[in-house]
Amino acid sequence: MRFPKDVPVLTDQGIRLRAPRLEDVEAMVEMYRDPDTQYWSGSPPTDDREEAELDVTERIPKGWRVGTRRTWVIEYGGEYAGAITLSGGESGVGSVGFTGHPAYRGKGLATRAVRLVLAHAFDDLGWHRVTWCAFVGNWAARRVAWRTGFRNFFTTHGAGPADGERRDEWIASIGRDDEREPQNHWWQVPVIETERFRLREYRDSDVERAAEMSNDERTLHWLANLPKPFGRQDAEQYLARGREGQASGERVGWVVADPDTDELLGDVGVFGLHSRSDQTSGELGYSAHPEARGRGLITAAVGRVIEQAFLPIDEGGLGRLRLEIRAAKGNLASIQVAEANGFTRAGVLRAADHRRDGSYDDLVIFDLLISDRG
Ligand SMILES: CC(C)(COP(=O)(O)OP(=O)(O)OC[C@H]1O[C@@H](n2cnc3c(N)ncnc32)[C@H](O)[C@@H]1OP(=O)(O)O)[C@@H](O)C(=O)NCCC(=O)NCCS
Repeated sequence: MRFPKDVPVLTDQGIRLRAPRLEDVEAMVEMYRDPDTQYWSGSPPTDDREEAELDVTERIPKGWRVGTRRTWVIEYGGEYAGAITLSGGESGVGSVGFTGHPAYRGKGLATRAVRLVLAHAFDDLGWHRVTWCAFVGNWAARRVAWRTGFRNFFTTHGAGPADGERRDEWIASIGRDDEREPQNHWWQVPVIETERFRLREYRDSDVERAAEMSNDERTLHWLANLPKPFGRQDAEQYLARGREGQASGERVGWVVADPDTDELLGDVGVFGLHSRSDQTSGELGYSAHPEARGRGLITAAVGRVIEQAFLPIDEGGLGRLRLEIRAAKGNLASIQVAEANGFTRAGVLRAADHRRDGSYDDLVIFDLLISDRG
């Protein structure tokens, strides 16, 4: 084992980052065998003990000597809790990658480890930017990147190398002088129970009902930007965009569910939440599953979401002061939902809402201010 003498030990009050040792091999193999490690790593690590030994005795020391891959063990309470690597660094730009031992996840250790290596990269190595990437859907890793100040998250489609194939990948970065704190609110979706309905987060099992809701003549008529026909895959993309919107601070969406069966009856979302200059407005959007129409359900659900939207952020709300609804002039059911909830007709954008046949309808703007509610 030929580690350079100066592998830095990085510590905060909770964890210690240090060079790997042969005593780590057993825990490394356990981590390599974990299905999440296998799935989310670009090239799944072998779970072979001898290979793990070679990592410790040959590959990781070589990375340190050459200076292209600096891998530390994350040690917590004297135990092996994961690994973190800084790669590259040419021209002052490199990347960070990390994996937690399954027994030590969800304790904030990866977050602490990233903070330590960012400080090392910027302050000791003189780097000016660190990038991060993960396969789309790796929410735990994304949350670590978000919490430590990575920003400008975007998706590269089919770009991430995954053991001989390619998967969609999220990419983000942070610069030396950037604040190492979250750059936007990551909205949670609280469950709200009422006698008539439950408002809750979308689940994968809602895909079918969500597809039925959107693949409906009336929905497709008024929401002309939806793909027609609207299939299962479109619904999956809709759910994925919703989750991204929550993570990027842009939107929050609730399923309106039957309180007994939990089946999707509709949805209500608030979007436009993360404008750079103003974060006190939001726009409401809603849809009802065809089976759930005509009984005032969405009107009531929107009413409940309005309360949530006007609630201060530190009380679990969205901290909005002004809400908006936009509806095509002929969409009387939607207009009814706005008016029944006390919205004021603020104006009309002429010929602003396109239909699939190439025609345009006037778009009515409704607004509701927190001060309207007395
Ligand atoms: C990604 C990984 C390293 C995170 O390690 P960790 O020590 O659990 O990370 P932390 O505890 O610091 O933070 C995890 C955060 O993700 C959150 N999280 C976990 N699963 C989540 C999910 N499915 N959706 C949303 N957030 C999730 C946790 O609640 C926590 O958030 P918090 O800080 O608000 O509490 C670990 O899950 C892992 O090893 N995964 C398998 C390998 C991997 O994905 N490596 C990264 C490749 S880029």
